[in-house]
Amino acid sequence: MIFDDNERIITSDYIDEDADIEVGLRPHTLADYIGQEKVKQNLSIYISAAKDRREPLDHVLLYGPPGLGKTTLAGIISNEMGVNIRITSGPAIEKAGDLAAILTNLSQNDILFIDEIHRMSRTVEEILYPAMEDFALDIIIGKGPSAKSIRLDLPKFTLIGATTRAGLLTAPLRDRFGVIARLELYTPEELVKIVKRSANLLNVEIDSEGAVEIASRSRGTPRIANRLLKRVRDFAQVKYDGKITRRVAAESLAMMEIDDKGLDVIDNKMIMAMIKNFGGGPVGLDTLAATIGEEPNTIEDVYEPYLLQLGYISRTPRGRVVTQEGYRHFNVPMPE
Ligand code: ADE
Repeated sequence: MIFDDNERIITSDYIDEDADIEVGLRPHTLADYIGQEKVKQNLSIYISAAKDRREPLDHVLLYGPPGLGKTTLAGIISNEMGVNIRITSGPAIEKAGDLAAILTNLSQNDILFIDEIHRMSRTVEEILYPAMEDFALDIIIGKGPSAKSIRLDLPKFTLIGATTRAGLLTAPLRDRFGVIARLELYTPEELVKIVKRSANLLNVEIDSEGAVEIASRSRGTPRIANRLLKRVRDFAQVKYDGKITRRVAAESLAMMEIDDKGLDVIDNKMIMAMIKNFGGGPVGLDTLAATIGEEPNTIEDVYEPYLLQLGYISRTPRGRVVTQEGYRHFNVPMPE
């Protein structure tokens, strides 16, 4: 890869500096969580009902592009339920025994959050089936013909899984979630509220137009909005008088090579490759990925959702195509 995604300021992947930004800015209650109205509405009902029954919440699968607040939402659910949360991720659970150890250490009604749950190995995943369905752990003792399986009871717990696409999960795993919630990219209005809320928590002075400018370039993603806010704050402090206005935000973001829609060098490279190498498409995902030196999964999870939302590309059965809007944004005349 020519361009390291970690250096991309508008990557929606979690990068080190997000740790301190996100932890301080994370809302702790559903009431404080901006956007995702449908998901919030449903979750609040399920949470009330489970609390009334003094039972754990059903297992929840959260899916959607990175940076939309899946981990934040899991934390809120644990807070609203008044239970502990144990956080891990699919790739971090290497062996079946690792997961068994986590499960046996949970308390009644606790939440186990597994991020990137689609990246769990099959042997680890198979431990989860009886754990989710029967709150049981099947342990095999011995080897060969004399091997015996014993079943241990687990505390009743809630699994919250997060993934970028529900389709990446195996059907048996997906079927064991009682609640499946899809997170959508945020609207510009919701992002404005998030930017203002964050600026307030960070003690940064920002006016409405400054917030709009940052929000409109954040690709529908709070993680990116918060990161841009922090970078613009630096520019405001060093080059201006500390206050974020539209001009300060626009000039700072232009210096970071982020255009007025939040598109950067990589989006540019992708759309221009589609236009120049493939006549605007249709072009298959794998071909496009190879042409620009990115992983097909990265294109599907990270770049495409926002370009689709903007209507700059569309997906057809024969591949991706650049739309009229896309041509217009990149100032290229559309072929007849
Ligand atoms: N910070 C990140 N995501 C948020 C959200 N959805 N609401 C409020 N603050 C956030």
